[in-house]
Amino acid sequence: MKYIVRLVSLFFTVTSFNAFGADTVPGSSHGIAYPAGWQNWSTIAVSHRTDNNTIRVILGNEVAVNAARSGKNNPWPEGTILGKVVWKDTELKDWKTAIAPGQFVHAEFMFKDSKKYASTYNWGWARWVGLEQAPFEKGAQVCTTCHTPVKDRDWVFTDPASLP
Ligand code: HEC
Repeated sequence: MKYIVRLVSLFFTVTSFNAFGADTVPGSSHGIAYPAGWQNWSTIAVSHRTDNNTIRVILGNEVAVNAARSGKNNPWPEGTILGKVVWKDTELKDWKTAIAPGQFVHAEFMFKDSKKYASTYNWGWARWVGLEQAPFEKGAQVCTTCHTPVKDRDWVFTDPASLP
């Protein structure tokens, strides 16, 4: 009987994970909560890395997009969240020279809060990996080390793409 109870509860654990897993908000990365809803943010720029064959969209929350559109982005205002979403390159089936997003790699974010994140250059740094959005926990210095070349541009590489 005990065995059956266990089996039944295992069944519910597994099925409820499958059924509701996609709606569960992923855990925090570097102590920063998941910015739920980022999939609907507006685009600030796009980029393509030829060294590792990935395509990226740089997007932002409302504060970030307003700053980008009005050119008031150095420094970026408090409350800005910048996101970068990365896919492996693929080619369009019907037009081989068109590079398109293939396998999803990760989504990562910079959160501007000069009080909270004073020790990491006024930005919180967080990443969620894979379609399962597993929190990255290897430390913000992984991010800041690589962003050092742009420390005089508020630690941000991206120039907002020009728009009419
Ligand atoms: C290997 C170097 C490298 C590492 C490590 C790195 N970045 Fe970046 N990041 C870049 C470059 C280069 C860009 C410019 C745009 C691009 O990559 O397409 C960028 C862009 C970004 C952007 C868009 C805003 C901007 O600066 O242009 C965000 C957000 C971002 N990175 C977050 C992070 C976070 C969070 C981490 C750590 C989890 C991280 N990055 C680690 C190199 C790096």
